[in-house]
Amino acid sequence: MSIDVRPSEDAGTFLATDQLVWFGEVTDADARHLRLGLPEDQRFVVDLPEGPEDLHSGIYGVRPMEMSLPGGTIVPIAGLTWVGVHPDARRRGVLTAMMGDHLERTRAAGTATSALHASEAAIYGRYGYGLAVLTHQITLGRGTTFTAPHLEDEVAGVTTHLVTMSDPGVAERMRACQLGNAPDFPGTIVGTPDFFTLMATESAEELRDKERRRILFARRDGQDIGFIGLRREHKWEKARPSGTVTAGTFCGGPAARLALARRIVDLDLMGTTKLENVGVDDPLLDWVGGPRGTGSLETWDSTWVRLVDLEAAWPLRTYDGDCDVVVEVEDRSAPWNAGRWQLTPSSARRTEAEAEVTLDVAVLGAGYLGRSIGGLLRAGLVREHRPGAYAELARAMRTVVEPEPSIGF
Ligand SMILES: CC(C)(COP(=O)(O)OP(=O)(O)OC[C@H]1O[C@@H](n2cnc3c(N)ncnc32)[C@H](O)[C@@H]1OP(=O)(O)O)[C@@H](O)C(=O)NCCC(=O)NCCS
Repeated sequence: MSIDVRPSEDAGTFLATDQLVWFGEVTDADARHLRLGLPEDQRFVVDLPEGPEDLHSGIYGVRPMEMSLPGGTIVPIAGLTWVGVHPDARRRGVLTAMMGDHLERTRAAGTATSALHASEAAIYGRYGYGLAVLTHQITLGRGTTFTAPHLEDEVAGVTTHLVTMSDPGVAERMRACQLGNAPDFPGTIVGTPDFFTLMATESAEELRDKERRRILFARRDGQDIGFIGLRREHKWEKARPSGTVTAGTFCGGPAARLALARRIVDLDLMGTTKLENVGVDDPLLDWVGGPRGTGSLETWDSTWVRLVDLEAAWPLRTYDGDCDVVVEVEDRSAPWNAGRWQLTPSSARRTEAEAEVTLDVAVLGAGYLGRSIGGLLRAGLVREHRPGAYAELARAMRTVVEPEPSIGF
């Protein structure tokens, strides 16, 4: 049975389906959030013939976003989001139909790459998404020392300033700062101005007893050079203040990050800093002397990347080493990518030559932002027909520094 996926015509039913799937609290602000977050023509639905009557069987949406690649180019991407299948319609192929629809539409729109944050790790690999970026969650104690002798001169000229994210102009400053830094941090994903407004909008219901989200900017010579978002939470223990500051993703070069890191571990009344999204090669770990210099460290998946159009996506980034490898690409969800490709640093070309490596398109997505995929051969997730061919490919795709994590979208 083929399942029809069509554009949403009713924002209310789209939102109500999402709220059932994600069992979130329904507030007066939700409808406004929806309009802010997701362009009207980027919401899609499935209604199974025997499906639920008042709601959709499945929904998904696409945020138009931009992502920086190794080499510094910033390209448009489809940010897949709002994926949900009605609990009564699950495991009947609705997601599979929506994924096929998404890949076809994205290709037709001329966008080479799709990216997402996955709710569960097992869902998206089958549709050709590869785990492209890892992220650390780190806690630090009050007054943690950061040692970076060769950055001290530069950091001396950086000042920090605390503002409220919802204040006029703050979201625009954040976006400009993120775009400016993106080329130096491949993997950075920048949302549209609407997406920033969405992040800055916090209703009274959402906040309850929480602090409004603040932004700590790093500035030099009157210019924003970095920022981090944060929220503080009170706690008193044995009459002593021991609150927690929870902070998001660093934006900025090394000196800006150092100034921001020093400031957030030195906020009055706080005992612990929880950093929710730190790149695995962020200098922070080296500044504290490694994992045992933190209170705790956990590693999770951040961005998943899907090469929707392999031929178009491949030459958009640069490669660190030379390579010339014939790869048999398996791709069940986007058959136009399947087949044999000669991959070199300048192009992906169709070829009749014998395959030297066989792999799923998800492997190329996993390595697209520079994360090392060399271990996948040992893991038995890639087949090699010419010894050394996969190492050649993996070495060329790998960057010196691991890619930057993105915030959830
Ligand atoms: C995840 C979700 C969208 C799957 O939708 P679905 O319509 O049931 O998926 P399909 O019927 O198309 O299943 C496709 C395949 O994926 C598998 N699959 C689906 N969800 C899975 C999960 N959470 N874990 C592992 N496998 C899963 C199915 O078993 C099926 O496998 P098969 O092709 O070998 O038979 C749905 O369960 C859901 O809405 N979950 C809650 C919201 C959510 O997690 N959304 C994802 C946001 S990132």
